[in-house]
Amino acid sequence: MFLFLPALTVLAVVLGLQAHGEATASPYVVHEMRTHAAAGWSLVRRHSPSALILLRFALAQSNIAEIGSHLNDVSHPDSPNYGKHWSAGKIAETFAPSNETVAAVQTWLLESGIFSNQIRVTPTKGWIEVNATVEEAEQLLHAEYSVYRHDTGKEHIALQGYSLPAHIRRHVDFVTPTIHFDAKISSRSPGTPWMGSYPKTTGVVNETSQGLENCDSQITPECLRALYGIAYKPAVPHLNSYGIVEYTPQSYRQDDINKFAASYSPDLSGISPVLTSIDGGVIQTDQESFNLNGESDLDLQYAMALVSAKQPLTLYQAGDLQEGASFNNFLDALDGSYCTFEGGDDPADPTYPDSGGYAYHDCGTVKPANVISTSYSYTESDLSSAYTARQCAEYAKLGLMGVTMLFSSGDYGVAGNGGACMSYNGTYGVFNPMFPSTCPYVTSVGATQINTGASVYDPESACERVIYSGGGFSNYFAVPSYQEEVVHNYLTNHPPPYDHTIWNATGNSRAFPDVSANGANYVVAIDGQFSLVYGTSASSPVVGAMLTLVNDARLAKGKAPIGFINPAIYSSAFAKAFNDISSGSNSGCDTTGFASASGWDPVTGLGTPNFPSMLEAWMALP
Ligand SMILES: *[C@@H]1O[C@H](CO)[C@@H](O)[C@H](O)[C@H]1NC(C)=O
Ligand SMILES: *[C@@H]1O[C@H](CO)[C@@H](O)[C@H](O)[C@H]1NC(C)=O
Ligand SMILES: *[C@@H]1O[C@H](CO)[C@@H](O)[C@H](O)[C@H]1NC(C)=O
Ligand SMILES: *[C@@H]1O[C@H](CO)[C@@H](O)[C@H](O)[C@H]1NC(C)=O
Ligand SMILES: *[C@@H]1O[C@H](CO)[C@@H](O)[C@H](O)[C@H]1NC(C)=O
Repeated sequence: MFLFLPALTVLAVVLGLQAHGEATASPYVVHEMRTHAAAGWSLVRRHSPSALILLRFALAQSNIAEIGSHLNDVSHPDSPNYGKHWSAGKIAETFAPSNETVAAVQTWLLESGIFSNQIRVTPTKGWIEVNATVEEAEQLLHAEYSVYRHDTGKEHIALQGYSLPAHIRRHVDFVTPTIHFDAKISSRSPGTPWMGSYPKTTGVVNETSQGLENCDSQITPECLRALYGIAYKPAVPHLNSYGIVEYTPQSYRQDDINKFAASYSPDLSGISPVLTSIDGGVIQTDQESFNLNGESDLDLQYAMALVSAKQPLTLYQAGDLQEGASFNNFLDALDGSYCTFEGGDDPADPTYPDSGGYAYHDCGTVKPANVISTSYSYTESDLSSAYTARQCAEYAKLGLMGVTMLFSSGDYGVAGNGGACMSYNGTYGVFNPMFPSTCPYVTSVGATQINTGASVYDPESACERVIYSGGGFSNYFAVPSYQEEVVHNYLTNHPPPYDHTIWNATGNSRAFPDVSANGANYVVAIDGQFSLVYGTSASSPVVGAMLTLVNDARLAKGKAPIGFINPAIYSSAFAKAFNDISSGSNSGCDTTGFASASGWDPVTGLGTPNFPSMLEAWMALP
């Protein structure tokens, strides 16, 4: 494992480099820094000075500090503005960076010797892009670019730290590519560990069960309906929408949906999700394997079965086979104000640097569904605080528009993807929370199980079969007001026995998950056979399906969709809406993790949905 240069060497490099034409610039100050490469990555070489890179400056947005209170205003059940969601235009207008910010960064770039034809301000002013050589970028940022390689072979351009002139810093959230290991999923290495809580399998099952007898060993849609009391048929599917996000090369197979339909959901036979392709997203059918088809087959079969064929399901398939995609591509497609990430807003713009893949970069072109479930995630420490804050604010904007964003909480208990236990600063053995689950403006979904020998009418436990429910405490995000009380209660009544150096024990940080649902023993048709599948990957689309049915009932009564649900579900109006889970824990990092307990806990959140109570609570709201 590569270790970074000692700090002294870095300082010498920083002081030794001078940007050209720096006459009026203020002194440089370190803007972002990490002391260690992300887990699994090692430095292979210095990047070539003549290589071209697209530097992106994420400009500081206006009024962004208030986004949480704006979101609370439309999401808290006690607010007079509950359900009064914002238009995309109002959102863009409220949060766009100021002209002063745009001008300050532009002026500095020009003064530093960058030509105006290398600089581009994105239409909504969120980003400034500079088409630069590595040498120019290094002079601008007082930094040194390197090429890193992941254990799986994937390469990524990054640096250890970078600086900006003191007077520019307040105008820039962060710069990419720099210290963030936000590598995309690569077609060469499916199942890559740094972005994905991919489901796990114990293999093919030859005898699948029907009925409710064996739900402790095989979960089917019928088991889930009985477990959570789901008995609701969509009444106004044309007014409603439910979306599942998949990242290429993951893809579903129609013959698998048909096979699943034949045994468990006859109405789905021949029914496909409605494909919305983002940045060249394709359903590849050339190769098949559990790693390539398991996630999509699982998500779609259960999401579609639970909302029934009456409710069309949107599949957001992000990324082409060559480049894949990251969360940024997905966000760009939904929100033009977030653009642009590796490309232009104008379809005529060349894409960069993807040489042979997708033709256009999708930007603000995709209408978000009312509920969107994603079963992929990063380890928070692979990204920086500023980087995660920017994405998190985008999720808040979607919430303001009335969209419910669900993310699986991860499958490694208190550890990060692949079981990694390392923090941002390189300390090993440290609990590794998951992002976007740690963003206070999304809803994080953990996993439960039916205990061996128990029935669907017995209480579930935290999932301890094959996977452990991701959960814990953010190192970047403060505790949101909706969660303060339950987190305080948990830490007071069930103080975790771990040294404060290995987890964020302050009680002031965002804790996850928020809710949970069964994540063990799912019967899924994959590549022509039924397999048993495990993971919070299953839990998130199941919760998404239930929330979609709630939206149907509200829309049928002329009410708004539920949007960002956290302020509501943590409120007393929802006290009966979840089945409390109080046994099991989420092992990881050579510990037993946190213990599930009565009330909210950092393993199963508030518990599993009680659909009839949840529906009643939401129907009582305006
Ligand atoms: C910002 O600049 C644009 C033109 O570039 C102008 O139309 C707009 O009025 C300016 N906004 C403010 C608040 O000055
Ligand atoms: C970036 O600049 C180089 C020349 O410096 C040019 O060849 C290339 O087309 C530019 N790319 C973009 C996307 O502007
Ligand atoms: C299922 O059947 C296949 C082929 O008949 C066999 O190889 C496999 O071991 C069986 N699996 C189980 C779980 O019984
Ligand atoms: C704990 O979380 C808070 C809130 O995000 C943060 O300010 C603090 O730095 C974190 N502490 C540690 C030790 O990571
Ligand atoms: C890294 O962070 C841990 C807590 O997460 C702390 O105990 C340790 O002292 C830090 N190490 C360095 C080198 O800053």
